[in-house]
Amino acid sequence: IYRSALLRFADDGQAVYDSDGLLAVAPDAQGVQRVVAAGSWQALAPQYIDREGVQRIDLPGRLLAPGFVDLHIHYPQTDVIGAPASGLLPWLENYTFPHESRFADRAYADGVADFFMDELLRNGVTTALAFATSHPTSVDAIMTAARQRGMRMIAGKVLQDRNSPDGVRDDTEQGLIDTETLIQRWHGVDRLGYAITPRFAPTSTDAQLRGAGELAARYGDVWIQSHVAENLDEVAWVKQLFPESRSYLAVYDDFGLMRERAVYAHSIWLDETDRKLMHDTRSAAAISPTSNQFLASGYFDYIKADEAGMLYGLASDVGGGMSFSPFRTMQAAYVVGRESLAKQGLSLAPGHLWWQHTAGAARALGLQGVIGNLQPGCEADFVVINPGCTPLLARKTGEARNLDELLFAMIILGDDRLIEQTIVSQAK
Ligand code: GUN
Ligand code: FE
Repeated sequence: IYRSALLRFADDGQAVYDSDGLLAVAPDAQGVQRVVAAGSWQALAPQYIDREGVQRIDLPGRLLAPGFVDLHIHYPQTDVIGAPASGLLPWLENYTFPHESRFADRAYADGVADFFMDELLRNGVTTALAFATSHPTSVDAIMTAARQRGMRMIAGKVLQDRNSPDGVRDDTEQGLIDTETLIQRWHGVDRLGYAITPRFAPTSTDAQLRGAGELAARYGDVWIQSHVAENLDEVAWVKQLFPESRSYLAVYDDFGLMRERAVYAHSIWLDETDRKLMHDTRSAAAISPTSNQFLASGYFDYIKADEAGMLYGLASDVGGGMSFSPFRTMQAAYVVGRESLAKQGLSLAPGHLWWQHTAGAARALGLQGVIGNLQPGCEADFVVINPGCTPLLARKTGEARNLDELLFAMIILGDDRLIEQTIVSQAK
């Protein structure tokens, strides 16, 4: 049991806070630590203290919170952050594709995967939905690194059989065969999951998208991840390439790639019919605000997404994104969210920003009640936050009069220094 301040979320997404809380965790039959109780110390302590076999850890001045869930990130772009390109398509061509070609080398991929995983944990991220590259070995590298750390990681080999240079372009058939092999090798092993990963519509042929959709139907509990409607040049290009489809998003629907557990990064330039399609298929948007700022792509429309009842969560989109830190991402979401919300005199509430990066992102993945929260039954992936980690944060959080002020101080001023420890439920 831990004694500390405690943050978690109710089923309706409301933040629940105990200033003097108790978190009890215990291993299940598979050796995964799970939350068995979370609430106020006063109410729960009598059941636990002085009981034989109960280990007690007191963390005065600290806050326990769910591990963050990053809904969209590219591990091979760890070293692409901050590449000085203007706009998505030049950035891909001049920096990202040449760099990703290096991941054909397993030793190189292993090195980056280890660094990436440690960087996630250092920033308090315990689960990510990650792109690898088109090279199958790049998936072996990230899965191995995640498994060694006991993390719940979801990743997939990128499918891109056209409009891609030598070194990253795959073969239509071979890419699909490799995908199926990797599903069988990794999906459901320990805490790992596989995601079928067409890069985006412009870089896959109809045949490859069709094959991906067939795999998505055959393996109903694997994830699907791609990009959609990020940038206006990209949207125009898709219109040329797929004249038969009603919209960019509809291309994915036409090939059987919209269903539960499908996550589409950005989802900015959608129309009402697209948003309804997202809702009806229970596909989710991965909102990537630091990436949208960096690549000047546009901004996610929270008002219209909520009107349509779309699923969504927050993502770093490293290396289009500018930071691994969920605090930087939540801060950017606050700023870009005003683009839509300010029209109605609203802004994103601190608890809602935090929810989008934890329990909300877990719900978008179909993992509500499994990760992203500290309710009984959840896998015990959590962070120990030190709200006094810098002089200014110590002042601001010390003066906070309510939960909104406490959370918002950390969202606006915080970064990796807030994360004192990241605890993963199956750490070896
Ligand atoms: N669209 C296709 N590939 C990518 C990528 O690597 N990053 C981003 N931000 N958008 C993409
Ligand atoms: Fe991306």
